[in-house]
Formats: sequence, C-alpha cells, structure tokens
Amino acid sequence: MSKIHIVSNRLPLSIKKEDDSFNLSPSVGGLATGMRSIYKEYGGKWIGWPGLSKDDLTDDELLTIDEKLVSEDCLAVHLTSEEINLYYEGFSNNVIWPLFHYFAQFIDYNPEYWEAYQKVNHKFAQKALEIVEDGDIVWIHDYQLLLVPEMIKSVKPNVTIGFFLHIPFPSFEVFRILPWRNELIKGMLGADLIGFHTYDYERHFFSSVRRLLGYEISFNEIHLEDRIILADAFPMGIDYEKFETKAKAIAHKSLQERSELHRELEKYFLVSPDRKLILSIDRLDYTKGIPNRLNAFEKFLNKYPEFRNKVSLIMLVVPSRDEVEQYKLLKSEVDELVGRINGQYGGVNYTPVWYFYRSLPFDNLIELYSTSDVALITPVRDGMNLVAKEYIASRINQSGVLIISEMAGAVKEMGEAIIINPNNEEEIADSIHQALTMEMEEQRRRMRYLQDRIRRYDVFKWSGEFIKSLKKVEDIQQNFL
Ligand code: UDP
Ligand code: G6P
Repeated sequence: MSKIHIVSNRLPLSIKKEDDSFNLSPSVGGLATGMRSIYKEYGGKWIGWPGLSKDDLTDDELLTIDEKLVSEDCLAVHLTSEEINLYYEGFSNNVIWPLFHYFAQFIDYNPEYWEAYQKVNHKFAQKALEIVEDGDIVWIHDYQLLLVPEMIKSVKPNVTIGFFLHIPFPSFEVFRILPWRNELIKGMLGADLIGFHTYDYERHFFSSVRRLLGYEISFNEIHLEDRIILADAFPMGIDYEKFETKAKAIAHKSLQERSELHRELEKYFLVSPDRKLILSIDRLDYTKGIPNRLNAFEKFLNKYPEFRNKVSLIMLVVPSRDEVEQYKLLKSEVDELVGRINGQYGGVNYTPVWYFYRSLPFDNLIELYSTSDVALITPVRDGMNLVAKEYIASRINQSGVLIISEMAGAVKEMGEAIIINPNNEEEIADSIHQALTMEMEEQRRRMRYLQDRIRRYDVFKWSGEFIKSLKKVEDIQQNFL
C-alpha cells in the first residue's frame, strides 16, 4: 500500500541531552505542532533533524537517538556543526527567512551559505530516497528545503510530491533581490502540488514563476515542459478538539489539582475583581512585532491611567535561533523594554509585564489561554500564526477578545477579531482599550463566529484537502500524457 512520508528540517520531537540520557521533547513552531497531530495516520516516516550537532555525539549516542526516533516513526538526518551554521542559521535563517518576511536589510549574501544549503538539501533528499517507493507520496515542508522536491523528482518521477510553505511567499519585487532566485523556484517546481497558507502568497509565487521562468499559468495550473503541476492556498488549522477538550478538563480541576502557574494567575485576580490579563505567545523572532507590542502597551498605560495596577501583559517568549545575530540583538531589546515598563509602572503588588523567556508544557499553555481576557498578536509579518487559533479554541465559555495584526496569514479567517496595523502603536493602544471594555455579549457574539470557522477548518481538514488535491494532480497529469 502506498504511504505518505513527511520531510521537514525539524522533526516534531527534539532530542535534549539531560545528565547522561537523551530525552525527546515536543518541538516548538507551527509546522511541528500542526503536523504532529496527523502524521502517524499516514503509515509513513517523518524525516528531519533532531536538533543536536552530530559533532557532539559518539557513534553509540547517535545509534541511541536513531532508535528512540524510529519508535516514533521518525528518521533522523544528522547535521554537523558546520552544516547547522551554514545551512540552518546561514542560508535558511539569515537569507530566506528575512527575505520572505520582507526584512531584506538583514540578509547576509554569503555564497558559502548557498553551497551548504544545496548540499544539505541533497542530504535530506537522499534520506528520503532510501525509503520512498514508487506510488508513495512525499510531503516536503517549508523554506529550509526548497530544493528537495526537484532533487527527489529527478530520481523518482513516479513518486507524487507535495510541498507546503509555512511562511509567506514575498512579492516578486522582493523575491527578485536574491541571486539564487531561479534555482529556488526550480527546486519548488519539482513538486506536483505546492501549497501556501493564503491566496496572496500563491499569487506572489505565480508572478515569480511567470516572470523568472516564463511558464504559462492557467487558473492554478502551471504548465512545465513535461508536466502540469498545481499550486493552491490551504490555510493551516489546529487540532481544535485537543485544545477545547484540554481547556474543559482544566476548568473542572479543583484548586489543589491546578498547576503552580495556574494558582499564581488566580492570586493575581484575587487582588481585585476588575483585574485583567492580556496574553501574547511567540518565539523570540523579529517578525513577531514584540517591541511594537511592548511600546503599544506602554502607550496604553500612559494614555489610559485608570487601567494601571489593573491590567498586566503576560508575555511568553520562546527562545529561538539564538546563535543568529539578529535574534541576539532582539533579545537585548526586549529585555530592556520590559525592564523599562516594569520600572516605570510597576509597584509592590503590580507587575505590568510578566515576561517568561522559555517554552511551557501544553497544559500550561492552555491555562494561559483560558485565563487571559485578551490575546494580543502583533506580528509585522507571519505566514499564518497558530497561536491566534489556539486562543480561540481554548475559550470554552466564548468570552475573550483577540487583537490580531493584519500582517498575519490567520487574519484572513478572523474578520470578527480586532484587526490592527502592527506599526501603528497608537492604534494598538486604543485597541487594547476597546478589547478591555467590550461588553460580554459582544465578546461572545464575535467569539462564536470565530470558533465555528476555526473548528470547521481544523488541521485534519487542512491535511485532508491537501492530500485530496495531490490525488487530483495525479488525474490531471494522467490526462495530459
Ligand atoms: N508553542 C509551544 N510551546 C510554547 C509556546 C508555543 O509548543 O511554549 C507552540 C504554540 O502552541 C504554537 C506554536 O508553538 O502551536 C507557534 O506557532 P505559530 O504558528 O504561532 O508561530 P511560529 O512559531 O510557527 O512562527
Ligand atoms: C516556523 C517555521 C518552521 C520552524 C519553526 C521553529 O514555524 O515555519 O519551519 O520549524 O518556525 O523554528 P526552528 O528554526 O526552531 O525550527
């Protein structure tokens, strides 16, 4: 029977060395959390990097790691420190990530990065080719592996290849900046189906394909020399039921059964019944608009003094790519801003910004989602943003207000949220005020619409639609021959 194999840079489980043993922990990020809910249904393997440098491990340790991963249906691609430096931190996160998120000023055009990117993409393709059989489907994910579709297709043309980009695809005028633009597009065109979160990203991709390579495009079909392929928009959803069920379970827990974090949150509300909490959760990334958010919160406290001592921003920031220069600079900027706001507005019984720089287990995330009156999501660019959807799914009594940036892919499905421009700090400050003073009836009315939509197009629907379109491409290709 044909199988579906997944290939992505990061596996859904990362290996951590603790004392002398290796433990698996869930990886952070939309790709990993979304796909984790579905891949075991496919009967194939998930090929990817477990997050450690091969140079720091003995042969026996590598074997132990491989065995642990195989029991989770994962196959490891081990990377050396040099590969991590040049391919992952270098080309992936110092070239493609900034370019595709419109931060061209951060790009480091180092040709060594490009060399390494090609070699490591080849390494991933080889690993997949070891297990893939004719008739199987290979589903490749994200910007770290743009060349892999073509590398597999050229060796095994009878394997059906899907590719999904989890970040924005930029407009042609931005994409063309890159010296290696044609090679990247050709790599992607090795797939039979290319998926994006939104129609805008798809449109930008078509425009680059047409203008750089001159292929004819009709509706969403791209006519290559020897075959037709499809590109389409599939907005990624979440495992809605998992969030809703957990939120319900937590709501039924007695005080003693609750986690320490949950009890601390409840103490905060005990001080005064009209206290409110605003929540944000993201990886520490310059695309997420964290400084804008802090500045806007500061403006809010300044402009609406009646809310001082009554409203705190709880900001969970997950460490990410901390070897990359821009991420280090951002960390200092955020630390400084939090210090400034807390110094200015804090008191013995009041901390304006609760700042956690770590990742938290799933249960704690749900506790944060369910106790926060407002979610404040302000990216300056974001492919989708699953945190916004997770907040909605966790609001089991339909209260709560979502403020979301117009630059997040998720906004397309969130007409009932308060939508802001992340560069307009005054507008964000006023939106915080609007959210905190919104009548409960209005909150529930909006939340019901949001929940219905996010529940309907969950991650299972998303993957089902993608696989259905892959089968449709197979039919189109048969008729073309
Ligand atoms: N997340 C997590 N642990 C944490 C904080 C966040 O697993 O401590 C998850 C969060 O639940 C969400 C994902 O990380 O599913 C972030 O995805 P999103 O699409 O919002 O942004 P990305 O990190 O992919 O840019
Ligand atoms: C985003 C990307 C993913 C990536 C994740 C975490 O969601 O689209 O491909 O896995 O961020 O980043 P990291 O560099 O830690 O894998």
